[in-house]
Parts: sequence; C-alpha cells; structure tokens
Amino acid sequence: MIPTVIVGAGNMGSALFRGLSAKLGKEHLWLCDVHEEKLAPAEPGRRLTDPRRCGEVAECILLAVKPQSFSSLMETVGRSWSKKLIISIMAGVTLRRLADDTGASAVVRAMPNLGARVGRCVTGWITTPAVTPAQRQVAERIFSAVGTSIRLDTESQIDAFTAIAGSGPAYFFYLAELLEQAARDAGISSEHSARIARDLLGAGSLLLDGGERSAAGWREAVTSKGGTTEAALRVLLERDFPAILNQALSAAAERSHTLSDDAGSH
Ligand SMILES: NC(=O)c1ccc[n+]([C@@H]2O[C@H](COP(=O)([O-])OP(=O)(O)OC[C@H]3O[C@@H](n4cnc5c(N)ncnc54)[C@H](OP(=O)(O)O)[C@@H]3O)[C@@H](O)[C@H]2O)c1
Repeated sequence: MIPTVIVGAGNMGSALFRGLSAKLGKEHLWLCDVHEEKLAPAEPGRRLTDPRRCGEVAECILLAVKPQSFSSLMETVGRSWSKKLIISIMAGVTLRRLADDTGASAVVRAMPNLGARVGRCVTGWITTPAVTPAQRQVAERIFSAVGTSIRLDTESQIDAFTAIAGSGPAYFFYLAELLEQAARDAGISSEHSARIARDLLGAGSLLLDGGERSAAGWREAVTSKGGTTEAALRVLLERDFPAILNQALSAAAERSHTLSDDAGSH
C-alpha cells in the first residue's frame, strides 16, 4: 500500500477510511478534512486540516469531497498533486476535468456506494491511460478492501453505474419505507412496521449468501402460480414498473452527467 490520504471525512470518506484501516492497516493512511472533529478515525499524527499538506505525506490522493467543493479545493492546493495518483469518488466529475484541474496524468474515477460502511460496497471505476498497472493495483486494493471492485470500460458506463449502484441503496431504503408505511396503514404498530420492513430486506442476504440463484431466480422461487405474490407482481407489470424504474435511472445518469457542469467544469 502506498501512502494514501483521503480528502473529505464525511459519509463516504470516513466509511472508506474505516474499511481501509481495518483491512490494510492505518500505517499508510491519512485523513484530511477542514473540520477537525471529523478526523477522529485517524491516528493523531495522521490528521490533516490543511489539504496543502496532503501532497507532502501521500502518493495517492483519494478525493471524497462533494463535487461542489472541488473547485475551491483546487484553488487551495494548486498543482501540488500533479505527480500523484488521483482517485476521485466525486459523482459526475469527469476524468478530463480531474486531470485538467489537478494537472495529474494518473487519474482514477470511481463510484462506490454507502455499503462501504459495512464492507458491502460495490465500486465501479475507470482510469486515464497513464495509470500504470501498479497504480491500478493500488486502486483495486483500496476498493476491494471495502467490498467488490469492478473495472468499467468507458466513462459513460460510470454514469449508468452511478445511477444503479451509487444511488442504489436509496432505492432499497425507499422500498423499505413504503412497505413500512403499508404495514402502518394496515393498523400494525409503528415499532412492528419498522421491524417488518427491515426484516423483509433480509431478502438481500439471500441474494448475497444464498447460493448461485439470481435475483430473477429468487423472485420466481417465491412466486407461486395463482398466489398472492403473483397478484402483486402482475399489478407492478401492468403499471409498467420496469419502465418507471428505467426512467428514474435515466434521470440519475443524466444528473451524474451534468453534475460536473454544476461544479464548474470546462
Ligand atoms: N454519500 C454517498 O452515498 C455517496 C456515494 C458515492 C459517491 N459519493 C461521493 O462521495 C463524495 C463525498 O460525499 P459525502 O456524502 O461523504 O460528503 P460529505 O459528508 O459532505 O463529506 C465531505 C467532507 O469534505 C469536507 N470538505 C469540503 N471541502 C474540503 C476541503 N477543501 N478540504 C478538506 N475537506 C473538505 C466537507 O466539509 P463541509 O461540510 O464544510 O463542506 C465534509 O466534511 C461526493 O463527491 C459524492 O458524490 C457519495
């Protein structure tokens, strides 16, 4: 592991830091945030509040600030990271923009998700051609430390990946929320409704750890002919739920595509 600093110790930065330090050790890991109180997960000597110091300690800079904070961060650090391996998890910020603004040629654009908090993250990533095999290995080790690492082929796949996997946890939470509400509407206590919604999503565990069966395979397995589940799924199909979901995913992918403009892209 090469010396690495995570810049931005918010939801994702701190989750990545925790996952990385648990799997790879804290020895080569620094954490940087403008808010000192967010740096607690790092050893006292590995906490930075001034991003200009990152280039002094690390060879790999992992950018985990909001896309909207990127411009001012770059104003602070200038071109001091141009010889570093830059790994960005900022939604929507393109490889070109990352390379232009940092001056670095070795750049990885990645999209993890909230699963990083529990070591169940799936990260899709792409690189500039200048990234060496050794640097790709660094990226691979970082993403594998918090879950599954998937190297994508094109930048447009990152927008689709962002819509599906980056935002994906929110769709599960929304489904849980709706099921919880339905249980409350049926007169079940709030406490039990919340419990039902949580436990139903245990279906995710079956998909992960329940053998080779696919999502469609599990759905078929629990849908008896003429049964209750089939009645519910028929309504979802009649109302064209797949088309609604695809529209939602397209909106998220489009937003990923335009986020870079919002953040002041060229
Ligand atoms: N949340 C997700 O599920 C998710 C999933 C995939 C990817 N991402 C990406 O991950 C990135 C971080 O998201 P997040 O939800 O973790 O954001 P967050 O909670 O707002 O964390 C970002 C942290 O960086 C700090 N910061 C801002 N400018 C800085 C600077 N110049 N130097 C050092 N620290 C600075 C922020 O401080 P202030 O609050 O003062 O700005 C904040 O503490 C985003 O780019 C997002 O697109 C997020």
